Amino acid sequence: MNNTVHRPPSTINRLFDVYPLFDIEPIRGEACYVYDAEGTRYLDLYGGHAVISVGHSHPHYVAKISEQLQQLGFYSNSVQNKLQVELAHKLTELSGCQDYRLFLCNSGAEANENALKLASFVTGKTKVISFKKGFHGRTSAAVNVTDSNKIKAPINTTFQAEIHEWNNIETVKNSLAQGDVCAIIIEGIQGIGGIHIPEKAFLEQIEKLCTQHGAILILDEVQSGYGRSGHFFGFQHADIQPDIISMAKGMGNGFPIGGVLIYQKHEAKYGILGSTFGGNHLACAAGIAVLDILKNENLLEHSATLGAYFIEQLKNIPQIKEVRGRGLMIGIDMGEAIKPLREKLLYRDKIFTGSSSDPNTIRLLPPLNITKNEVDYFIETVTQTFLSVAS
Ligand SMILES: Cc1ncc(COP(=O)(O)O)c(C=O)c1O
Repeated sequence: MNNTVHRPPSTINRLFDVYPLFDIEPIRGEACYVYDAEGTRYLDLYGGHAVISVGHSHPHYVAKISEQLQQLGFYSNSVQNKLQVELAHKLTELSGCQDYRLFLCNSGAEANENALKLASFVTGKTKVISFKKGFHGRTSAAVNVTDSNKIKAPINTTFQAEIHEWNNIETVKNSLAQGDVCAIIIEGIQGIGGIHIPEKAFLEQIEKLCTQHGAILILDEVQSGYGRSGHFFGFQHADIQPDIISMAKGMGNGFPIGGVLIYQKHEAKYGILGSTFGGNHLACAAGIAVLDILKNENLLEHSATLGAYFIEQLKNIPQIKEVRGRGLMIGIDMGEAIKPLREKLLYRDKIFTGSSSDPNTIRLLPPLNITKNEVDYFIETVTQTFLSVAS
């Protein structure tokens, strides 16, 4: 079955064709489902690359953005904007990061780009440590610290980026001891790499070494943040205080918004960072709506408890080699190529799941307000699939 198609000739001519596409076109969404023009319903266990945090077209989210659009969609960062202040307040309260200040931008790559730039401003250095299987975005500095040579152009590789073993502190320690490291960037939980959790002690040792050697610790929470892991940020299972925390994806539930939380000891100066669209009125309305829903519907706790149940159920399926994850950020390692299973789930059972850079690992990143019924339905569907293959 080859259902991954490129665009048909009628539409291919005006688009720069960089995405392989499924032959499905959702036109409407509600909670954890999307629907095509024929009304076929798909269970969304992927949230469009971990973006849908509070569910498709949540009424509060729709109302907040619509009301804001009736008032003012955009004005620049040269005027007062109370929505930015409200967003920063609600974000730092809910995440427990009250000692941080917020800079707003538009995407995950841009958040990391600003984080790395700020780290270089602070330290005056350029060498960055990152980790195997890590992904930090496609812009210049962010892609240079990403572990994938095929997405780096020569223009991206202009500073020294050292990619280290995951959960191995020794090489990191030796590199930092040379005194030329600007920053360490690490995902709170590795996403695209196939869902890998950094050990608590590893994060704590990294923080200690960064402090000792004057390097900046950047936690990339673009995918693992916003309640996905059951904590607000994925790193919060460890006792650390990063210098910079980057976020995007779930922050706007589909509205493009990204942000960088910067520990208060690092001073802001006019002009060092900036963005035309970052923090615009509509993006802030979306961001505030997401935080309201996360808080009012207790979605952090829900993500933790339902995620634990989901992982436990998956672990009971004997055909699965390994289940990794925390909260509703789950990797299912099948020990063999997942492509046929994912295609069955999508085209036969109408369930969206995600892939990863590991061809054997499925990624599940559902909306955080998914219910136990949907989890049970998925478990039942996967179990039946294996039973029918065996018989
Ligand atoms: C951990 C992580 N960082 C950064 C990015 C880049 O985000 P964006 O695609 O919004 O630029 C991604 C995207 O998948 C990501 O998973």
